[in-house]
Amino acid sequence: MAGRNPQNSRIPSPSEATGPLGRDELLPVLNELLEAERAGVKVAAAYRDECPSAEVRALLDGVHADEAHSCALLSKAIQRLGGEPSRLTGAFLERALRVEGLRERLAFLNRGQGWVIRRVEATIPRISDPEISAALAEMLEIHIRNVAACDEIAKDEPERNDARSGKKVL
Ligand SMILES: [Fe+2]
Repeated sequence: MAGRNPQNSRIPSPSEATGPLGRDELLPVLNELLEAERAGVKVAAAYRDECPSAEVRALLDGVHADEAHSCALLSKAIQRLGGEPSRLTGAFLERALRVEGLRERLAFLNRGQGWVIRRVEATIPRISDPEISAALAEMLEIHIRNVAACDEIAKDEPERNDARSGKKVL
């Protein structure tokens, strides 16, 4: 992107460089992911609680548990490096709560999950610690599975203002 100044970015993207990440480079990436996953936990719970469909509630329950598991994996990895797990929640939460409509919410959730997938995919090759690498690989697998499951269910949901039925979904 023209004019992009990496100095303005809080954390350099792992894809912008190659080679193993040092502890001080890896910790902020893991904490950024932890904040995103904590947002994911809260988004999945909020979407589930407001969801009229039992099938989608069950799906979101699973996503909620998986996001919490990812938080635990990341916290453990951060502590393994002698770091302090962030207690913050990613900005994704506030944006996600403003989205209306079940299909739209699932699509928004998947955009967030897609960001995590890209971030984790770019980071894994640059991790030298096999335990942390395995934790991120597990997170990646979980996210790929959940994105596919949400996509599968979302395609059967009508859009919020379905032109054919005029029916409001949520
Ligand atoms: Fe996530």
